[in-house]
Amino acid sequence: MKSIQGFGLGLRTEHYAAFEAEPQKRVDWLEIISENYMVPGGAPLWHLERIRRDFPMVMHGVSLNIGGTDPLRMDYLRDLKTLVQRVQPGWVSDHLCWTGTQGVNLHDLLPLPYTQETLLHVCDRIQRVQDFLGRRLVIENPSTYVAFASDQMPEWEFVGAMLQRADCELLLDVNNVYVSSVNHGFDPRHYIDAIAPSRVRQIHLAGHETHEGYLIDTHDQPVCEAVWQLYAYTLQHCASVPTMIERDDHIPALHELLDELDHARLVHDTALAASSTMAAEECAA
Ligand SMILES: [Fe+2]
Repeated sequence: MKSIQGFGLGLRTEHYAAFEAEPQKRVDWLEIISENYMVPGGAPLWHLERIRRDFPMVMHGVSLNIGGTDPLRMDYLRDLKTLVQRVQPGWVSDHLCWTGTQGVNLHDLLPLPYTQETLLHVCDRIQRVQDFLGRRLVIENPSTYVAFASDQMPEWEFVGAMLQRADCELLLDVNNVYVSSVNHGFDPRHYIDAIAPSRVRQIHLAGHETHEGYLIDTHDQPVCEAVWQLYAYTLQHCASVPTMIERDDHIPALHELLDELDHARLVHDTALAASSTMAAEECAA
């Protein structure tokens, strides 16, 4: 299949009709939530198959529980693999987190202590999932609100070590880096600087809310100016990376998200043009 590049959106049920009605040429690709389609039939798969004919897709999961201590669920992985075979996605992603224990799915993306023990545990599970799926996994950095007394390294060091040890790739959520940087008081550019550009497969952009000095990763409003600036900084570090906007609540009409996606294109082109100007000036100096 064609390699995925450019600017995408998360496919949401509110926009099925718009995608089925006309080609929507301002969207280069779509990201689907894997679990919404891991069923043998029904309306979601019917819509998916129609829209898939027009758009390359990537798959994004929310229940792999890669950091959990329950055994990996082979029934879940078999269903995931069936969907991979059906969709033929550009890549398959999930989150650096735990989502449940003792067979209970808590339906939340919960933070992990960044210790050597966690690193070995997560990498072992990523490698087993990669072996089962026969492809690299793409893991997303979380937004977090607490840190652990047992932490042995900052998140960016943990992520860097995970990418190398598990030989997986990164879904770099720029909003998550920003949210965590405010909540924990670190420089988000320091996080970006620590990431190996060759491992960054995809970028997420999203909106958040402010509550009593903390940022909450709500995905319910437009991307804020500080995150656009961090996105530009990220592109100057990583060069061009397929980028999408996540919206999960207060979902607007598709044309509003398409306008926001056009703004991402503008920020992207401006950042890369500035990078090449700086490189040319350095050569000339
Ligand atoms: Fe994200």
